Amino acid sequence: MVEQISYARVKSDPLSAQTYSQRKQNKHDQEMAMLAKAFAKTKDIHSVLDAPCGVGRASIWLAQQGREVTGIDLGKAALKLAGELAQEAGVKISFASHDIFALPFANKQFDATLCFRLLHHFESEELRARLIAEMCRVSDRYVVMSRISPHSVTSWRRRLRFKLFGKPIKQYPVTAAALDAQFKKQGFSPVIQVGGSEFLHSLQLHVYMRN
Ligand SMILES: C[S@@+](CC[C@H](N)C(=O)[O-])C[C@H]1O[C@@H](n2cnc3c(N)ncnc32)[C@H](O)[C@@H]1O
Repeated sequence: MVEQISYARVKSDPLSAQTYSQRKQNKHDQEMAMLAKAFAKTKDIHSVLDAPCGVGRASIWLAQQGREVTGIDLGKAALKLAGELAQEAGVKISFASHDIFALPFANKQFDATLCFRLLHHFESEELRARLIAEMCRVSDRYVVMSRISPHSVTSWRRRLRFKLFGKPIKQYPVTAAALDAQFKKQGFSPVIQVGGSEFLHSLQLHVYMRN
């Protein structure tokens, strides 16, 4: 059976947006450092789509690097806060409300697209494939995408908790090989994987380039 797209994680209320904008500083810094390593491997890119942008963490960082950034998200409160934070940071970003599964952009409209911390919310391979296809469609050259590794201590712990106590798993890991295979279907090849040891670090970031 095909998984319905779930909008349960959309950050529409001000409290969830505010909470997300107050992620632990060291976590935030680590994640921005991952983006820096990933984008260092991209060449001659100007326009970037950050989807979903949430409260604009990556959008702001990208704009500070001199990129022309479009950030999209379905969360009203997240978008509002993203606009305010971008203004505070003194950067110009185009934010808009769109569904990542049905982007209103032309094929290859952006030099690069970024999808950070969303893929792991979807359990079905088919939905993940749709998400990847849409990010590839609107990218002329690069797609930067995060995933959660099934080999990390955290993922092992989640599976154990599920087995022992029935605690539901809400984050769905995928292997690098599975991600590579989906991108291959879209005509993209791997450039670099950032994140360090998969055993220690759940969050992994991949850069793919159009063939
Ligand atoms: C975990 S947050 C990540 C946000 C951002 N990439 C970051 O790392 O700060 C996931 C975001 O996805 C948004 N979202 C969930 N489903 C979406 C959809 N179908 N279309 C657009 N945004 C969506 C949520 O509103 C939320 O802001």
